[in-house]
Amino acid sequence: MPASQLLFGELHRARQLSDELFRVVDPDSMYERPIPERHRILFYLGHLEAFDWNLLARRTLELPAFQPAFDRLFAFGIDPAAGDLPDDQPSDWPKVAEVERYNQRTRERIDAVLPQVPELFLEAAIEHRLMHAETLAYILHQLPYERKSPQPATAARACPVPEPSMIEIPAGPAQLGLKPGERFGWDNEYEAHTLDVPAFAIAKYKITNRDYLQYVRAGGSAPFFWIERGGVWFYRGMFAEMSLPLDWPVYVTHRQAEQYARWRGLELPSEAQFERAVCGQAPSGNSDFRHWDPVAVTADDRPGDSGLRPAQMRGNGWEWTSTVFAPFPGFRPFPFYTNYSAPFFDGQHYVLKGGSPRTAMRLLRLTFRNWFRPSYPYVYATFRLVAS
Ligand code: AVJ
Ligand code: FE
Repeated sequence: MPASQLLFGELHRARQLSDELFRVVDPDSMYERPIPERHRILFYLGHLEAFDWNLLARRTLELPAFQPAFDRLFAFGIDPAAGDLPDDQPSDWPKVAEVERYNQRTRERIDAVLPQVPELFLEAAIEHRLMHAETLAYILHQLPYERKSPQPATAARACPVPEPSMIEIPAGPAQLGLKPGERFGWDNEYEAHTLDVPAFAIAKYKITNRDYLQYVRAGGSAPFFWIERGGVWFYRGMFAEMSLPLDWPVYVTHRQAEQYARWRGLELPSEAQFERAVCGQAPSGNSDFRHWDPVAVTADDRPGDSGLRPAQMRGNGWEWTSTVFAPFPGFRPFPFYTNYSAPFFDGQHYVLKGGSPRTAMRLLRLTFRNWFRPSYPYVYATFRLVAS
C-alpha cells in the first residue's frame, strides 16, 4: 500500500524535530563524542538521512547512488561491549558542510518519490528517526553545558507519595506482541501471544531519587545522573545542575535497579508483569518531547483517581524489566532491516518498557520493546518494584 499524506506530514515533523535537536549543539562541538560507546555527534547528522535514503530510495525504489561512500559511512550505529570502545579521530570524518549537502540532496530525492514509497517502509523511517531523537537527546545530555544552547525548562508540581503503594494484580493472561495488520510495529513485536502470569503486587510509583538516596547512604552505587559536591548530591539535568529533585524517578542502570530491588527484598517486574499491570493506561504528560528532564512521579495523579492503577507506566522514564531481550515465538527479522533486533538477542540486553520524556507518542504503544545492556548508564531509564 502506498503511503498517505498523513505519513508525509509525520516524516516532515520528525525531520523538523531532529533538525532542532542538532541546533542545540554548539557548531564547534559536532565532532565531540559525549558517550564513549557511541559515535561522534556528526555521525548522527549523516545517519538519519543515510538511513532514509538507503531504505526508501536505494533499496525500495532502486534509485542510483550519488555519494555511495556516505551511504555506507553513515549506514549503521554501534553498540560495543565494555572495553571495546571506538578510537576513530575527528579527522576521519567529513566536514559538516559536506554532510549537510549530502543530507539536502537525499531529502530532495526522497521527497520527489515519496508517493511511491510503501507505507511499511515510510513508517519504519519515521520511527527510526524518532528513536534517534531520543538517543541523541541522551547523548547530548552528556555534552558539557557550555557546548549546548539551553532550552526552556518546565516545572511540574509534586504531591507527596502516598503509602501504602503496592497494587495487587490478580493472576491471569498478559497480552504480548502485535497481531499482523494491527498497526506498524518492529520485527521484535511479533508474533502476538499470551502468557499466564501468577498473582503479584506492583508499586504504584516509580522509584524516586528520595527512595534511592537512602540506598546510596547505605552504601549502594550512586546514579550516573548524580554528582556529589561537598558531601551533597546534585542532579545533572539536560541543561543545568540542580539540587537533587527528590520526587523525580531515579535514572539508573539495570544492575543498580536489580541491586536496589534485592536490598528491598523485592524484584523487578518481568515484561509480562509490566504488560499486565499497564493495561492500556494513557501516556504520562511527560512524554512526546514536552520536557527534557523528568517530573515528579505523582505529577500525573488526578483528584479522584482510584489509586488502584500503577502511575506513569508510559513516559517519565523507561522502566527496566527482569526480562532478557529475546525473540517472541514466530519471530522473523524484517527482510528490509535484518539487523534491527536480531544481533541484540545475545543474552546481553534487557527489555525496557514504557517510555521517557523524550519518547515520541508513536513509540509509546504498549507493544514497543526497548533494550539496552545492563550496565549502560546513559539511557533515561528508571524502575519500579514487584512482589511475586
Ligand atoms: C531500540 C533504541 C535500542 O538506538 O540502539 C536506532 C534503535 N536501531 N537505529 C538503538 C535504533 C538502529 C535502538 N534502540
Ligand atoms: Fe539508527
